[in-house]
Amino acid sequence: MSSELENDLSTQFMEASIIESPHIIQARRAAKDLGLEPVTPATAQFLTFLAHIIDATAIVEVGTGTGVSTLAFFAGMKPEGLLTSVDCEAEHHGAAREILKAADIAHTRFRLITGDALTVLPKLTPGAYDMVFVDAEYLEYPEYLEEGLRILRPGGLLVLNHVFLGGKVVDDTNLDDDTIIIRDTVEAARGMDNLTTSLIAIGDGLLVCSTTRNED
Ligand SMILES: C[S@@+](CC[C@H](N)C(=O)[O-])C[C@H]1O[C@@H](n2cnc3c(N)ncnc32)[C@H](O)[C@@H]1O
Repeated sequence: MSSELENDLSTQFMEASIIESPHIIQARRAAKDLGLEPVTPATAQFLTFLAHIIDATAIVEVGTGTGVSTLAFFAGMKPEGLLTSVDCEAEHHGAAREILKAADIAHTRFRLITGDALTVLPKLTPGAYDMVFVDAEYLEYPEYLEEGLRILRPGGLLVLNHVFLGGKVVDDTNLDDDTIIIRDTVEAARGMDNLTTSLIAIGDGLLVCSTTRNED
């Protein structure tokens, strides 16, 4: 068996082995109706894991969609935590709000800010967040990286989704704008002295970046 096929089978096995909550399944259905691409089950599970291991109490999500990744964060973050999720589409926030309500997530645990990410992010408090998750407009990834690093606390995590862009990023001959921007953003983050980074082959690819801790 070729290693490519083995990789595909392993990925299929990993994604299919995850049993999701009824509310995540509801959010996936809503995403499909709206033509959105939510994080995959394995990606969602990994986000839960990251939020859990860093005891996250303050998370910013760029790109709420219908709330699949939002629910994944709630499964991992501390109960007293606050999740801030930004999306430019009121319709997406409407769907996400309904799903969070159905999942019994208290409205005091989240704020959904409807607006353009590049207008909203500069207004968030510097150094105040444990984790920033980016899943919105590809062409704005460099600015999300910059703003994400500005608002993270020392030792915080920045996670960029879609860093493989369906395989386009690893294909050197692909020079479309989205691909170049994502490729450059990943390269820039991996070259930063104040970040420890890891590329994770889950879903459409995640770049996980940890900022320098005070004691480092
Ligand atoms: C792929 S979906 C997010 C999926 C979500 N993270 C999930 O797992 O369910 C991308 C979202 O980003 C939002 N978006 C796109 N460009 C944006 C921008 N410039 N500012 C804010 N949100 C944006 C879209 O409206 C869409 O809901």
